[in-house]
Amino acid sequence: MTSQTLREARKYEETSEKLIGKEERPDFHLTPRTGWMNDPNGFSYYKGRYHLFYQYYPYESKWGPMHWGHAVSSDLLHWEYLPCALAPDEAYDRDGIFSGSAAVLPDGRQLLMYTGVLKEHQERDIYREVQTQCMAVGDGIDYEKYEQNPVLDQRDIPEGSSRFDFRDPKMWMKADGTYACVVGNRPADGSGQILLYESADGFQWKFKSILVSNHDRFGKMWECPDFFELDGKWVLLTSPQDMLPEGFEYHNGNGTLCLIGDYDEENGSFKEMQNQSVDYGIDFYAPQTVAAPDGRRIMIGWMQNWDACGIRSPEEPWFGQMSLPRELSLKDGRLYQRPVREFDAMRRNKIEYADVAVSGVVKLDGIKGRKVDMELTVRPEGGQELYQKFAVRFAQDDTYYTSLSFRPRESILKVDRKFSGSRRAIIHQRRSLVNTADGELKLRIILDRFSVEVFVNDGEQVMSAAMYTRQEADGISFFADGTANIDVVKYELE
Ligand code: FRU
Repeated sequence: MTSQTLREARKYEETSEKLIGKEERPDFHLTPRTGWMNDPNGFSYYKGRYHLFYQYYPYESKWGPMHWGHAVSSDLLHWEYLPCALAPDEAYDRDGIFSGSAAVLPDGRQLLMYTGVLKEHQERDIYREVQTQCMAVGDGIDYEKYEQNPVLDQRDIPEGSSRFDFRDPKMWMKADGTYACVVGNRPADGSGQILLYESADGFQWKFKSILVSNHDRFGKMWECPDFFELDGKWVLLTSPQDMLPEGFEYHNGNGTLCLIGDYDEENGSFKEMQNQSVDYGIDFYAPQTVAAPDGRRIMIGWMQNWDACGIRSPEEPWFGQMSLPRELSLKDGRLYQRPVREFDAMRRNKIEYADVAVSGVVKLDGIKGRKVDMELTVRPEGGQELYQKFAVRFAQDDTYYTSLSFRPRESILKVDRKFSGSRRAIIHQRRSLVNTADGELKLRIILDRFSVEVFVNDGEQVMSAAMYTRQEADGISFFADGTANIDVVKYELE
């Protein structure tokens, strides 16, 4: 039975979607059908297609009472919208359907797990959001909430932990057919922890352990955990709030964290070995992964940052986009990311330049566009002194550009969208320490109208940023202080 609230949302999005032209959206990054989008939710493979749900407020391009939007795709790049899947319409979730995940039941139905939010009156005009975990079951289009929701509440969290910060369940089916999930929570120390739960049938959940404790190391509350096996290790992804910067690894505000280690499933304990950022750019948060049928682990993140949402005016018909789907792997104790291989099928009209000497500003014939995949190798010219700085500018016209610049002596790569047309005093730059051998650097730069994603050194690092520069600004140019030689392979994307 669909509620009035859900019916209204479905009706509204169907009409409003028509008011947004195809050219007003990215081509292969998912945006909300209409209105606002944040975190990816329920990223899964079900009945032969990838499903991606998302935090959704259809009625305005700003955050509001959360729904789950829904889209499906067979290649992770061309998405088809399905009707809004969940609306805040029950006594236990009427203030929001927060982030969550999807799995499959033995009878073939799809199982969703999400955080239900309910405002509780404290004193005077103060309300706080109580968060519980809830289930819904469906056929890939319509979902019915479980009659015994919520399935996890304050009785299921460790003593002293917060029932106001208890959210974003990510569940998976274990090899034996039972289920497990991780949930973000705030312990008594005020920082973050990840709780592990188990369930035989996907409906009755039991607390297993505190999988990882933040102890105030990486920000405060940990949001949107994901936990999976990858190349013989276990990886915990989470998005900490209120981070302090740490060298060039972690930046202020909302960030992304990857912990790599060993998992003892029997005891529910995780032994951390390595930590790193997931994305070193400006806009990337709350990533979620799916296990593809062929075994690949694929991640999508919200290509936005809470502190920088003001970059786009709420007058625009949509806000928020997903990142490219990225294949994950581990190499030398690090998380590597590369665009999903399905992406290569979109490349058209290859243009190639080898060993072009760049000194000052250089433009190359045919190298321009806002839907571009460009591989770029930079190196010092043989026998010459190391260049001081190399830069590539894109989304460029006489007024605007966004740039990537690299200083080989410092090994620092910087993304800068100060001149992208933003009228807000928010973060527009971010720097990352990258690996370079004698001034050589490999970049793969992907543009899709409103964003740039840079895969550094074959995916050793990624930097993502949204940019809302007018589309006429489609120039690309290269610059070197000193002389740098570049190889360029550029494709249009279709
Ligand atoms: C992360 C987050 C989640 C929450 C959702 C609400 O971006 O704050 O923790 O479930 O957004 O929209």
